[in-house]
Amino acid sequence: MFDTSPWTYFLLSIGVLTVYWSISILRGAYRSDLTSLPGPKWAPFTALYRVYRLWSGQAPAVYLDLHEQYGPIVRTGPNTISIADPATIPTLYGISSNFLKSKFYITMSPRHEGEIMDSMFTTRDPARHKALKRPVAGKFSMTSIRTMEPLVNQCSEIFIQAMKDLEGQKVDLSTWLQWYAFDVIGMITFNKRFGFMEERKDILEMISSLEFALRYAGLVGQVPVLHPWLAGNPLVSGFMEKVVGLPNPLRAFVEFTQECIDEYDRNEKEKETADFLTFLRIEEKKNKENMPHRDLINHLSNNLLAGSDTTAISLRAILYYLVKTPTSYKRLQEEIDAADRAGKLSEFVSYGESLELEYLQVVMKEAMRVHPGVSYPLERLVPEGGADLCGQKLREGTVVGINPVVIHHNKEIFGDDAAVFRPERWLDVNEEQLKLMDRTLLTFGTGARSCIGKNISLMEMGKFVPQILRQFDLFWASDKPDWTVHTYWFARQSDFVVKFQTRKR
Ligand code: HEM
Repeated sequence: MFDTSPWTYFLLSIGVLTVYWSISILRGAYRSDLTSLPGPKWAPFTALYRVYRLWSGQAPAVYLDLHEQYGPIVRTGPNTISIADPATIPTLYGISSNFLKSKFYITMSPRHEGEIMDSMFTTRDPARHKALKRPVAGKFSMTSIRTMEPLVNQCSEIFIQAMKDLEGQKVDLSTWLQWYAFDVIGMITFNKRFGFMEERKDILEMISSLEFALRYAGLVGQVPVLHPWLAGNPLVSGFMEKVVGLPNPLRAFVEFTQECIDEYDRNEKEKETADFLTFLRIEEKKNKENMPHRDLINHLSNNLLAGSDTTAISLRAILYYLVKTPTSYKRLQEEIDAADRAGKLSEFVSYGESLELEYLQVVMKEAMRVHPGVSYPLERLVPEGGADLCGQKLREGTVVGINPVVIHHNKEIFGDDAAVFRPERWLDVNEEQLKLMDRTLLTFGTGARSCIGKNISLMEMGKFVPQILRQFDLFWASDKPDWTVHTYWFARQSDFVVKFQTRKR
């Protein structure tokens, strides 16, 4: 009775799949708890709406526009909500929040020895997160961070020499600050520079392949169900890498980490240094159960993935806004010069000294407010039992998130000029308002899953900025009037070209 040719089976499968997808789309679109929510008309039907909107790398503008148009709670997908209400921050992210990370994060987990290796950043399981965090938390403490300063100073010295060498020429700070941040994280992690600044090139194509991975995560992360069929699948990723030649940065980072471990072991270090590798190797030898070798690889490679681009982006933002805002530049330079004249700055400005520079601190905070390194929603899942957010009852499993860039533009919290870089806003307020502004900052996330490396980057940037501005004047030297920003999770800038000129002091 039936024609059993392969074509019939093929067409039948397509038919079944089409019916299945149509039912899922309609079920998603007409979810009773979400139908009343405002948002773009295509969003309830498919997550591909977000892929389409985010494709060009303009996530900050997309999310700002959506909230401008639809208000503090917007439906951006069949099961996804974007929120812009500061009052929801403690519920979503607070220290005892039970809103776990969404599946977006799985697209950023590397693979090691054939298996997915969830990191402290990507893991969605609270128990695994705790187990990974406990043994290393001390290494991120203030006391430990101060011991890392000499490692950072070595990189600053190389950067300064290079800028003297390039004096009067056009310098692309988009690239140079990335090289600097990568070399610093190399020192902090392995006591070894990658050598980006010395060789003046993208070593092992680490930077370009990381860019590729972020673009992948930023887009496929919108439809994470596709990930196991793409880079999350060892056969597909192997094929793409070997046959098509697509980069696999996560693998490059993990392999580089293994090489550094091998080199460390061969050299049998004579004295202990402040880097993570030395610390973790000692922990591993002391207590293998507490620090399995796989976790050691995990922590070290995660440092490279989480701590390089983020710091480069923030350093660019700080210097960019200073160069573009002469009043702030002048005020900061005066503060640095006064401290220098008073003998309060060492040859290499120390972290402690930088904390005494009040205006520097608010310049850094303000630059990262206007241009947060992560400018995608920090996605979480509504827990069991559902939740009430912005007066809306949401079912368990709904994906909710606040985009730092959106919340940082909230006029009620930061003032009518929230879109403008104005460091003084942190100085000209009463204590209560200041606390509110601080609580609304999501540059480093907040609460249970906030950035563990925050103080490392604050140390690095706090030392670097006065070190440079004390010695050089910086001038905008790009042919373009502005920088270019492409956002795939990280808001990465290019076309930031300046000239350095040694100051007469
Ligand atoms: C200016 C620089 C940095 C920025 C803007 C930044 C930003 C962030 C943000 C927004 C999160 C929270 C993500 C979320 O909730 O989804 C985060 C988490 C994290 N960051 Fe950073 N980060 C920076 C530097 C670093 C550095 C230097 C390291 C390590 C050396 C690091 C390691 C981590 C880790 C491990 C997590 C996950 C923490 C957890 O879930 O417990 N970050 N970061």
